[in-house]
Amino acid sequence: MPDYQTHTYDVLVIGAGGAGLSAAIEASSAGVSVGVICKSLLGKAHTVMAEGGIAAAMGNVDERDNWRVHFADTMRGGQYLNNWRMAELHAKEAPDCVRELEAWGALFDRTKDGRILQRNFGGHRYPRLAHVGDRTGLEMIRTLQDHGIHQGIAVHMECTVLRLLTADGRVVGAFGYDRERGRFLLFQAKAIVLATGGIGRAFKITSNSWEYTGDGHALAYHAGAALMDMEFVQFHPTGMVWPPSVMGILVTEGVRGEGGVLRNKEGRRFMFDDIPELYRAQTADNEEEGWRYTQGDRNARRPPELLTRDHVARCIVREIKEGRGSPHGGVFLDISWIKERLPKAEEHIKKKLPSMYHQFKQLADIDITKEPMEVGPTTHYMMGGVQVDGDTQMSTVPGLFAAGECAAGLHGANRLGGNSLSDLLVFGKRAGRYAAAFAKENTAGAIDADQIQQAAAAALQPFERSGSEGPYQVQQKLQEIMQDLVGIVRTESEMKQALVEVEKLRQRAAKVSVQGNREYNNGWHTALDLPNMLTVSEAVTRAAIEREESRGAHFREDHTAKSAEFGKINIVIGKGADGETKIARRPIPEMPAELKQTIEEMQ
Ligand code: FUM
Repeated sequence: MPDYQTHTYDVLVIGAGGAGLSAAIEASSAGVSVGVICKSLLGKAHTVMAEGGIAAAMGNVDERDNWRVHFADTMRGGQYLNNWRMAELHAKEAPDCVRELEAWGALFDRTKDGRILQRNFGGHRYPRLAHVGDRTGLEMIRTLQDHGIHQGIAVHMECTVLRLLTADGRVVGAFGYDRERGRFLLFQAKAIVLATGGIGRAFKITSNSWEYTGDGHALAYHAGAALMDMEFVQFHPTGMVWPPSVMGILVTEGVRGEGGVLRNKEGRRFMFDDIPELYRAQTADNEEEGWRYTQGDRNARRPPELLTRDHVARCIVREIKEGRGSPHGGVFLDISWIKERLPKAEEHIKKKLPSMYHQFKQLADIDITKEPMEVGPTTHYMMGGVQVDGDTQMSTVPGLFAAGECAAGLHGANRLGGNSLSDLLVFGKRAGRYAAAFAKENTAGAIDADQIQQAAAAALQPFERSGSEGPYQVQQKLQEIMQDLVGIVRTESEMKQALVEVEKLRQRAAKVSVQGNREYNNGWHTALDLPNMLTVSEAVTRAAIEREESRGAHFREDHTAKSAEFGKINIVIGKGADGETKIARRPIPEMPAELKQTIEEMQ
C-alpha cells in the first residue's frame, strides 16, 4: 500500500471558489465538520474573472425588475434548455444571497440614495448586476474567504484530487496528493461537494488559469455520475488578443455595460447588422437610443453590444473571417468614445473600470480612456457539467453533490453574464446545506483499499517510464485540436476528426514520462491533469456531434437552424458498466404552468 495521510470530515468540498466556499460555510453552519480542498492557494479562483457583477433582481436601479423578469431572461438566454427549477430558485434567492454577502462585509458601489448599485449586462432586461467597479468576483472571494476561515473549516491548499472513492453505490471519500511535497492524501467523507469550476484549459485561447482542467467533471464521470449539456462551452466575446503573451485574458462585459461599443476596422458598429428575432423588440437600432439606454433612459432599448454572449462572439468571428478585423486578429472595443457625450469621461472610466484601465496600460500599453482596445473571443465558461437535482444539487451518485460551473442546468445553452456569481452563491449554499443533511443521515462508508492502490499506482507511472515525450506536448496539441475543431463554429466532419485525434492523444498521454522527484513537479502535475482534460474534451465533442442543430453557444455550420426536437432534450453522457462512454437524449421535464405563464408574460 502507498503511504498516505488520512483526513476525515463529514463533508468534503473540492474547490474553493465562490461555490466551494459558499458550500463550506453553509455546511459548517449546519454543525458538521467540513474540509475544503483548493488546487492552488485559497482565494485564487476563476470566480475573480467574473468582474462585472452579480446578477440579482434587487430592483435598486429599476424597480420594474423582479425574480420573474430575471427567471425569464435566464431561460431565454439559455434557449430554454435550462433546468427551470434551478432558474426559478436562482432568480428568487439571488437577492438575499447578495444581501448576505454584504452583511459579511462585501463592499458594493452605491446608488445616490445609498443602495447597492446595479449595472447593465448582456441579456438582462434591467440594470441587474450588483458590482464593485470591475472587481466584483474578487470582492466576493475576499468576503467568503474572510467569513469562511472563522467558521472552523479545515483548508487544504495546493492539493489535487485524483479519484473519488465509492462503496455500495455512494461516494465515501477522495484520494489525491499535495503539490508541495507530492504526498498522497486520503479524505474520508460522508458527503462530497464538487466545486472545481470549468474546463477552459482544454482550449488554446482561454480566460481560465492553469487549474481549470475539468477535474470535477472527470471525477464525477468516473465515479458513475451523469454529465449533461457538455456541448455548451461559452466563448466570452471579449478577451485580449495582443500581445500574444496575454491572449485570452478577460475584458469584462462591464466595458460594454458602461457604454463601450464594438467596431470593425472600417469604424462601423457591426453589431447593428444582425439582431436576432428573439431580442429585436428590446434592442436599439441606432446609436442614439443605445446611448440613452446606457445612461438610464427607461424608455430606450439596449445597445446591440449587450446581446447575449454567444451571438456577440459569433458576430466578432464573422467580422474577423471576412477581413474586417483589427491588426492583431480581433475587433475594436471602444469605451473612450463616451468622452463625446459625457463630461469627465476619463474619470468615469477609471472609476467604473479600474482593473481594465490598469490591465491594458500595463500589459498592452493602451490607455483605454483615449484609445480602443483590441479584443476577440476567449473560452470562458462551461455551461455543461454534472447533472444535479435542482433543489439539492445532488448528482446521480448518492452523497456526491456539485455546484457552480462544474454543475449543469441553470444556464442551459448559454449563460448570461453575472449569472455565474449568483449561481455560485445560491447553489453553493444549497449544495452545502443538503450535503450536511446527507452527512447527518448517513454513516461513513467503507474505504476500498484497492481503489487507493490503483489510484496511487497510476499516479506514479509517469516517473517509471523513461524516454517518452513529456506531458506538455500532449496538452498543447489537445488545446489546438479543441480550439480549431470544436470551437465557436463546428461541423460534424471536423468534430469526428477531433475524436480521432483525442483518442491518439489519450494513447500518447498514457505513455508520457516525467523527470525529477515528487516535490513541486509541474511536469508530473500536468501529466496527472491530462486524463481529465481528455475525458472532458471527448465528452464535449461527442455531445456536440449529437446535437444536430445550432442553439446558444453551440453553433453548427452544417445545421445552422434550431430544431424543435433538440429544443426538448438535454444530452447526457455517462460511463457504462463496460467502461465505455454512453450518450443519451434526456427529455426536459414539463415546466409548471405558472413558470410558463411568467415566460409568456415577459415576452
Ligand atoms: O465579463 C465579465 O465580467 C464576466 C462576467 C461573468 O462571466 O459572469
